[in-house]
Order: sequence, then C-alpha cells, then structure tokens
Amino acid sequence: MNNLHDWPEPIIRVQSLSESDLPIIPDRYIKPLTDRPCLNSEVDNDSNIPIIDLTGLSEHEDNLPASTLDQISIACREWGFFQVINHGVSPELMDRAREVWRGFFHSPMEIKQVYANSPKTYEGYGSRLGIEKGAILDWSDYYYLHYLPLTLKDYKKWPASPDSCREVIDEYGKELVKLSGRIMKVLSINLGLKEDQLQNAFGGDNIGACLRVNFYPKCPQPDLALGLSSHSDPGGLTLLLPDHEVPGLQVRRNGKWITVKPARHAFIINIGDQVQTDKVDKHDDFKVMIYEDKVLSNANYKSVEHRVIVNSGMERISLAFFYNPKSDIPIKPVEELVSEEKPALYSPMTFDEYRLFIRLKGPKGKSQVDSLKSPR
Ligand code: OGA
Ligand code: NI
Repeated sequence: MNNLHDWPEPIIRVQSLSESDLPIIPDRYIKPLTDRPCLNSEVDNDSNIPIIDLTGLSEHEDNLPASTLDQISIACREWGFFQVINHGVSPELMDRAREVWRGFFHSPMEIKQVYANSPKTYEGYGSRLGIEKGAILDWSDYYYLHYLPLTLKDYKKWPASPDSCREVIDEYGKELVKLSGRIMKVLSINLGLKEDQLQNAFGGDNIGACLRVNFYPKCPQPDLALGLSSHSDPGGLTLLLPDHEVPGLQVRRNGKWITVKPARHAFIINIGDQVQTDKVDKHDDFKVMIYEDKVLSNANYKSVEHRVIVNSGMERISLAFFYNPKSDIPIKPVEELVSEEKPALYSPMTFDEYRLFIRLKGPKGKSQVDSLKSPR
C-alpha cells in the first residue's frame, strides 16, 4: 500500500510561486498539449448552464412550481450542472464566507502552514491532490475541512484567523446542509421516488458534508496550465459558490468546454459520481443502490466533467461544498436489477473506499468512475 502519511515530494505553495513574479511557470505545471485550455476549437464561450429560480423552496415552505421541478429535472438529465438563485441562503453570508477565506489565503505563510495537510485525511491547507511522484500539478492551493458527520467536525482543524473565521464557516456550513437537504428532496421527487428516499439512500441523517475552498493565484502563463484538472466530483451533490468577479469554471458538454457565467449570488450545483446513472445497452444501471424500475428506465443523471482555467490578471476563490453519502455503506445497484444477463455495472464500494481511490490518483477526468466498471 502506498504511504498515505506524507507527500511524495516537498510541497510548493502555488500562491508563493505566483507572488514571486516569475515570468514563466515551472515545468511541473505545464499540461500536455491535449489538456491545455487554449484549444479554442474546444471552447464554447456563448452558452451557459441553466439558471433556475428557487423562490418557494425554503425551510418553511415547499411550494416549488411544477415548472421549476421540470427545469431541475431537465438540467440534471441534460447538463448535470445548473445554477440556482433565490435559494434561501443570505447573500450577505455568501459574501462574508468568501471574504473570510480570502483573508485566510492572504495571511502570512507561517499562519497558513500551521494547517498544512497530509494525504492521510487531506484536512487543512493543501496544494496538490494525489501522491504520484513527479505528477503534473494544478495551479491552485486549497483548504479542506469536514462539517459532517459530527465525529469528523473538528474546529481545531479550521483556521483560527481571520477573526470570526470559524463562526462564519460554521454558519455557512449549516445553511448549506439545509439547502442540500432541500435539493435532495427535489431530486428524489423528480426521480419518481418518495421525498426522503434519496436522502435515506445516502444514509439518512448520517450523511457527510465537507468544504473545499479553492484559491487560484494569478498565473503568468494561463494557456499552459489548469487551476483544477478535469474531473467529476466523487460524492453526491456539490454546491459551489463561485467567484463573482472572475470566471474560471468550465463544464464539458458535447465535447466542448463551456465557461460558466455565474449569476450574482447564485450557487452552482452539480451531480457527483455517487448519483451518476449510466446508460448501458438497453437499460440504465444506477450506481447508487436505489431504486425502482421507473427510475432506471427514465432517468439518466450524469456526473459531468469540469475543470478550472486560470488567468494572469486576477486571483480567484471558490467554495465547493460537498454533500456525500454516509461513508461506510456499500453503494451498489439494487439486487433485483442484477442478473447474469444484466451484471452490475460497478462493484459495490463504500464512499470511503472510492475517495481513497481518487486520492491516490488525483483528478483524472471521468476515468476513475469508468475504471471501476466491473469487467464484463
Ligand atoms: C471542485 C471544483 C470548481 C471551481 O472543487 O471540485 O470543481 O470553480 N471547483 O473552483
Ligand atoms: Ni469539482
């Protein structure tokens, strides 16, 4: 087994590299030609992911018009990505959360290094994913922490400064757990299930929730690098607070990269690998262990590939909140659906095991979930 306690080589903070004003980036950050963001034939700058107004969906009321449910259903099937406005989280809290993190990343290095992370849990201040020696790296630093389960929530692993950092992070997490629960209900209903069924399949109240704050420093050669390599999110749902001033997130659709244009105070929501459904031959096979035939024949939700580009003029900050299944329940298709003629598409795997697998390899497009397909 690989050693998960240490990084394979000394960690270099991308922010320090950026602040050293080098005219060119080190070779370690230069992507192979095929992955570079400058292939314009592959970029579609005119489209955008759907924007959906969630007015009516709040803690106290649950009156989303049927047309909104439909918009979400279409977005899940056709895009795997959408943004929501009027979602009930205070715009002021969203701004405070982003700015408190900006404050952290602009703190002196000695303060940040107190929280330096290791590949064992990834919690804390980090600058790479994956432990492959000599890997080509992404142009970003990040901070990773747990909200749920409560057994993993540990304030000591959260930054103590700037002032009020922990309170703001806490309040933000509570609001996002609530919003995620509301979105899970909508997805469940849209899948033809009972309102709580998707949440229950995720482990009921024992779900996991964590935050990854991404910091993308200015990059002197943005055409050669990526802020975050192409990947799909390993978990259940992701709620991303993008930088309202600096675009960067690109979503893959029909072979092209679409640069997301965020609406003000929107969250960008996407489906992770644990909810992915795959079309196989004439039937759909669900990765998550749910559900009824209706779902399996009708729905086709995707965990869509995305990546982040960087630029030479402005740093970018995003907060990615991940809502995940309980980490130790096996995720597998329902037994009734598996037979000799219809073998399971994936071997059962807990989210803990899946995450370990991703953490050893780093971001690799959709090859990770694909490589787990059972041999057939
Ligand atoms: C992620 C992610 C996108 C962004 O953290 O998984 O895809 O815009 N982030 O930073
Ligand atoms: Ni992502």
